Amino acid sequence: MPTLLIVVHSRTGGTDQMAAAAARGAADEPRVVTRLLRAAETNPDDVLAADGYLFATPENLAAISGVMKDFFDRTYYPVLDRINGRPYASLICAGSDGQNAARQIARIATGWRLRAVAAPLIVCTHAQTPEEILAPKRIGAADLARCAELGAALAAGLAMGIF
Ligand SMILES: Cc1cc2nc3c(=O)[nH]c(=O)nc-3n(C[C@H](O)[C@H](O)[C@H](O)COP(=O)(O)O)c2cc1C
Repeated sequence: MPTLLIVVHSRTGGTDQMAAAAARGAADEPRVVTRLLRAAETNPDDVLAADGYLFATPENLAAISGVMKDFFDRTYYPVLDRINGRPYASLICAGSDGQNAARQIARIATGWRLRAVAAPLIVCTHAQTPEEILAPKRIGAADLARCAELGAALAAGLAMGIF
């Protein structure tokens, strides 16, 4: 069965909820194995063993989070030229922007020769003050539903072999 690998990092919980919703959506597809892994615990073998990817990260300081960057730093060259053409999408949890994190993932994915099969899904928590930014996040039902739909679409595409 094809495998969808969801790689996630989250500091205050928002991205975790988005990735979990996507995993729930994907799990409705019985013909696909969905793996939800922490970025810090994801290794090149996990990337190689998957058929499609969902990268889920907060935007921190106008970039993907450091832990997510470390995941790409550790896995980029070991899998380069071995995953060409595989489908991917991204989930970004941001305070008010998210565009740079999305661009960074797209740039890395281009290097890997992955194929974007959906636009980056960005959810803004609208945290402004340091206290709000550091507080645990609660993602709304409508945004979680969008994440679940993206997970379901990725899984359906893998199951039907249309990617
Ligand atoms: C150190 C730090 C830097 C941040 N930088 C940005 C940023 O550049 N752009 C943005 O939109 N949000 C920024 N944020 C807000 C986070 O993206 C937001 O709080 C989001 O909910 C984090 O996702 P998480 O809950 O999964 O950790 C920053 C947060 C922290 C802690």
